[in-house]
Amino acid sequence: MRKLIGPKKIKTAVFISGKGSNLKNLIQFSKLKNYPFSVDLIISNTNQAKGLKYSKQYKIKKKIIKYDKKIKSDQKILYFLKQKKIKLICLAGFMKILSNNFIKKFQGKIINIHPSLLPKYKGLNTHFRAIKNREKFSGCTVHYVTPKLDSGKIILQKKVKISSKDNHSSLAKKILKKEHLIYPAAIKKILS
Ligand code: GRF
Repeated sequence: MRKLIGPKKIKTAVFISGKGSNLKNLIQFSKLKNYPFSVDLIISNTNQAKGLKYSKQYKIKKKIIKYDKKIKSDQKILYFLKQKKIKLICLAGFMKILSNNFIKKFQGKIINIHPSLLPKYKGLNTHFRAIKNREKFSGCTVHYVTPKLDSGKIILQKKVKISSKDNHSSLAKKILKKEHLIYPAAIKKILS
């Protein structure tokens, strides 16, 4: 990806489906001088996503695209991305699988945060599965998005110790804290 020249920030879209704690965190980091991106567009596949409230709070444009009919949805999203001159897409709890065509069009410019130490525990229910398998560690990973689910090149990872007292929600909380550290750091890493 091109190096950042001067104070210009790379325009970013964040895709969400839920709470949006990563979205909020990315917005806050983006306002810091030494983080080379700005959040200019929020995309959600549902109007029920709690994180949509950050659109109003931070005055960032939002678009809700159901992503049921993939080709039409792709076209709509691509239109909004172009309109806003978006150069980087950050998936943050986006629960839809983007079409291969869309991923190809934005190749190398879509990244995702996943709550496990990839390549372990791709897909859903990562914390539950890690505990069930008596793993000593879990964590989170920021990676490039490719057509193969949760399999693109890893940008950053952070390990978290699983204690015997952890259940999936305590582990999720611990990992989310680390997600909030590595997601902005990963963006900085690929843009600097
Ligand atoms: C995070 O755990 C992230 O790793 C996963 O979805 C969750 C989103 O959380 N992909 P939030 O909506 O950012 O709070």
